[in-house]
Order: sequence, then C-alpha cells, then structure tokens
Amino acid sequence: LLEAGRLLSLEEEAFQQMGATLEVLKYGATIISWKAPKSGSNDLVEQLFISSKAALDGSKPVRGGIPIVFPCFGAPTRPEHSKLPQHGYARNSTWQWDGQTLMDNDVAVSIRLTLTPEPSMTSDRVVLAYVITLSEHQLNTDLHVINTSSDQPLTFQALLHTYIRAPKAAAHIDGLQNLTFLDKTIAGNQKFRESRAVADVHQFTDYVYEDGPREYTVTWPDGGLKVKAIGFKDVVLWNPGPQKGSEISDMEEGGWERFLCLEPGYVADFNTIRPGETWIGGQTLTPIRSPGTLSV
Ligand code: BG6
Repeated sequence: LLEAGRLLSLEEEAFQQMGATLEVLKYGATIISWKAPKSGSNDLVEQLFISSKAALDGSKPVRGGIPIVFPCFGAPTRPEHSKLPQHGYARNSTWQWDGQTLMDNDVAVSIRLTLTPEPSMTSDRVVLAYVITLSEHQLNTDLHVINTSSDQPLTFQALLHTYIRAPKAAAHIDGLQNLTFLDKTIAGNQKFRESRAVADVHQFTDYVYEDGPREYTVTWPDGGLKVKAIGFKDVVLWNPGPQKGSEISDMEEGGWERFLCLEPGYVADFNTIRPGETWIGGQTLTPIRSPGTLSV
C-alpha cells in the first residue's frame, strides 16, 4: 500500500495516493480497481468494471480491470506464437514487482512490474515492463516492450484491455468517426468506415479501429473518461451484449450492461522492432469531472 508517495507495504500489491486508490495483481499485472474522487466531493468512485465471477487466484485471466494483451491479439497467427492462448501470455503470467519509481514530487505514485516470458512459451527474447502512475485525477499505464535479442527483430501486437465501468445503454464514444474498422462480429475480414460522430455499444460490438486519433472520450449521464494513447495507434471497442455475454463463463449476470471496453492497442497489424530496441505503448485515463464540458 502506497500513500501520498510513501511506501507503506509491498505485500498488499495495492497503493493509495492522495484521494485515489488502485489495486494491481502480480498475476497479469492486472489492475483490478481504480477509484477516483467524484466531482465536487471526496467520495471515491470505481472507474473500472470487474465481473463478480472473475477469478483473482491466478487460475485464468481476470474478467475485468485492465488485462494486458501481448504478444498476439486474439488467436495466435504467427509461428513463434503458436503455443500461446488467445491474447497471448502477458495477462496470465505472474509479473515481478520492480519497485516504486521515485517521483520528483509526491502528487503521483509510480510502480513498475516486469515480465520475462518462460522459454516454454516463446522463443522471443523480450522483457516487458509495465509502469503504473496514479495521481488524484489520472491513471497512466505504460507498457515497455524491450527486444533483448542482439540480432533478431521482435514482432508483436499489444493492447490494454480496459473495462470502463459505464452504463452501456447510455454511454457515448467520441473520436472514432471516419476511421476504418474491422468488424469482428461478422464472418470474414470485412472492413467499414465509421460514419458515427458519436458511437455507442447498443448492439454487440467488436470493432478494431485502425490508426485512430489517440484521443477518445467515453461519456454517460453522470460521468465520463478521457482516454489518451501513445504508441497504440489502433483502438478496439468491445461489448459482448446479452447473447455473447451470457456465454462467457466468468461474466456476471447482466455484466455487459455495466461496462464497455475501449482498448488502445497496436493490433490491426503487427509491430516489429529492431534488436535492442524498446517500444512504448501507453494510455492516460482522466475522469471527466463535468460531463458535457469536454469534447475530443
Ligand atoms: C476483445 C476482442 O478485445 O476481447 C474480442 O476484440 C474478445 O474478440 C474480447 O471476445 C474478450 O476476449 P477474452 O479472451 O478476454 O474473452
């Protein structure tokens, strides 16, 4: 537990900073809770959805919070990923605590976790570092992908599978208009152009938007979040709806009504980095304090 920049205990895998709190599991480096103050009060509001049926014991990836997708998005398609499960190994591997990053002030707290994949998983020479920085009104999560090979390029996809706690029926998403997207709800690799200035997830939605503006807002009647991405050129919008949602074994009854996933990623194609190179993809989530006054 970290409080106001002061390390209280490492064992808790949780930290509290100023008026905001955050909990992260070593398993998957999965953030499972982020509470930020409600506008005009000291009350904390949970910003992320987590299914009450989610396994938190390391037996399967967490259904909610912010799981990390790496090095493949969806089912593996490349030979070096052939042994991997859907969405890769990062979300179901145990990461190492790598300490608290010293900040030059105490308005934010930053922690770092790292992962070196088991050789049985992949022949890739790679180290991942995940830096989580919490301040009262912002959560920043940066994934560093370090190619530790001296002679081989590294090819991967990466994504932050962010379950935003929002009433699905009343949520609006800005920032997607005119983007090309792959519609994964239908068979075949069909791509379309987003015509909506303000998108929604009223229907089953599983869209991979390519090369977005890196700034999006999700708003609902009494809240909202601004999502800013770096490195992650694409963004996925997902909500399974009632039919698909009820087929997901660890989804709570009606859970699909209480979230949407807006997932900054590098997933429409593969990224390749040189031997020794580091690539960073990150997102900054900022609760919108006065919905309606902020736009993209
Ligand atoms: C989304 C994908 O990112 O994750 C969907 O676009 C997928 O196709 C969803 O269904 C959930 O995946 P999982 O493996 O956590 O059930």
